[in-house]
Amino acid sequence: MNKAVFVIVGAGQAGAVAAAELRRNGFNGRVVLIGDEPHAPYERPPLSKELLLHPETARCQLFPDDFYAEHNIEVRLGTRVTAIDPAARHVSLNNGETLPFDRLLLATGATVRRLPLLDQLGEDIYTLRTLDDARVLQSVIKRGRRIVLVGGGVVGLELASSAIDLGAHVTIVEQAPMVMGRCSPAILNEYLCKVHSERGAVLHIGTAVTHACRDNGEIALTLADGTRVTGDAIVYGIGVEPDTSLASAAGLEVDNGILVDERARTSHPAIYAAGDAAKQWDPHTGHYRRLETWENANRQAVAAAKSMMDIDADKVGAPWFWTDQCGLNIQFAGDMTGAQWIVRGTMGEPGFMLLGVCDDRLVAAVMVNRPRDMRSARMLIDKQVRLAPESWRDSQQSLRSLLNGG
Ligand code: APR
Repeated sequence: MNKAVFVIVGAGQAGAVAAAELRRNGFNGRVVLIGDEPHAPYERPPLSKELLLHPETARCQLFPDDFYAEHNIEVRLGTRVTAIDPAARHVSLNNGETLPFDRLLLATGATVRRLPLLDQLGEDIYTLRTLDDARVLQSVIKRGRRIVLVGGGVVGLELASSAIDLGAHVTIVEQAPMVMGRCSPAILNEYLCKVHSERGAVLHIGTAVTHACRDNGEIALTLADGTRVTGDAIVYGIGVEPDTSLASAAGLEVDNGILVDERARTSHPAIYAAGDAAKQWDPHTGHYRRLETWENANRQAVAAAKSMMDIDADKVGAPWFWTDQCGLNIQFAGDMTGAQWIVRGTMGEPGFMLLGVCDDRLVAAVMVNRPRDMRSARMLIDKQVRLAPESWRDSQQSLRSLLNGG
C-alpha cells in the first residue's frame, strides 16, 4: 500500500482534514488534494461572522501555508475533476490531465440552493457559501444599508447578527413557521426570534416571497401574506444541495447525498465519501443521514482516511454543531425531532439548556451560552443513559454527575 496514490476530490474541510489524517496515520504513498477554488482549504464558520466583522484580522485558513509541503500533500487548487472512471481507476481534470488513483475520496461538498425568483433580478442579489462570497459581502453589508435576508436558517440568522453589528438595517424573510427549522427544535423558535427583533431586525416568519422586482433603485419583495419588503440588497440562504454529480456520473449509489457506510465507503470498493456530500448509514436509526456540519466533515474525513488505509474507524457519536449569533453561543447535539423538551434554567435567560428526553433517555440537548455542559450531554446521549424524569429535570444535579450515576 505504501506506493499507492490516494486522490481526494474537494479541498474543503473534509478533503483537507482527510489528507492530514492520512499522513497522521503514517500513509506514505502519494496524496493529491484537488480543489476547484483558488484558495487553500479554509473553514466556513467564520465566513458569516469574523470575516465580515473583522476583515483585517479574521483568519479562516485550515492549516498554515507550509503544512501541505511539509506533509508531502500535493495540492492542486483552481482545478476541477470533470469525471471519474471507476473501472480504470482514474480521474480526469479540467486541464486535460488524467490522474490514476488506487483509492479515491469524494469530498465535493454542497452548493447553495438557488432561488430563480431572486436570481433573475441580477445585481444586488447575493448568497454566502465560499470565501469569495464572504469577501463580496464585506462591501455589501455596510452601515445604513438595508439588507433583506431571505431564509432564516443558520446563514440567515448569523448574517442578520453580523449585519446589525455593522450598523445595517435587517429584514429576515423565512417561509417556514420557524427559524432554523432544519437543525433547531421548535421550542427555541420564539426565543431566537425575540433575540433578533430586540436587536432591531424585522422578521417575517411563515411567509414566502411571491414576487420580486426592482423599483426606483431598490428591490421590492411581495410576501405571501401581502407584506411589501424593500431593501438595497438581498442575501439569501435557503439551504444547500450536496454536490453528487461526479458520483452519479460514475455510477455510485446516490440519494440526495453519496451513500456511504459507517466507514465512509461508497458502493464502489475503491471510492469513499465524506462531508456535506456524503449520506452515511446510521445503525442506530437504520437510515442514511446527511449532516451539514463542521464536526461531521471532520469526523467523516478522519473515518474515511482510516478506512482508505484499512484501519478501523471510531464509533459515530451524536451529531453536534454550534452557531454564534447575537452574542450567544448556541450548541446543539443529537436528534432535534421527537423528543420531549425539558428546560433547565430559565428559558430566555442565558445560560440555559434544553434537554430532549425520549423513553427516559437523553436524545438531544441545546446549550445557550453553556458550552461547558455540552461534553457531558453528548456523552449521556452516546451512552444512552436511562434515568427517571426527575433526574433530567433537577437542575441541581449537573449533567456531569448524571453521567457518573447521579
Ligand atoms: N424563502 C424563504 N425561506 C426559505 C425558502 C424560501 N423560498 N426556502 C427555504 N427557506 C428557509 C428554510 O425554511 C430554512 O429555514 O431557508 C432556511 C435554510 O436554512 P439552512 O438549511 O440552515 O441553510 P442555510 O442557512 O442556507 O445554511 C446553509 O451553511 O452554515 C451552513 O450548516 C449550514 O449547511 C448549512 C449551510
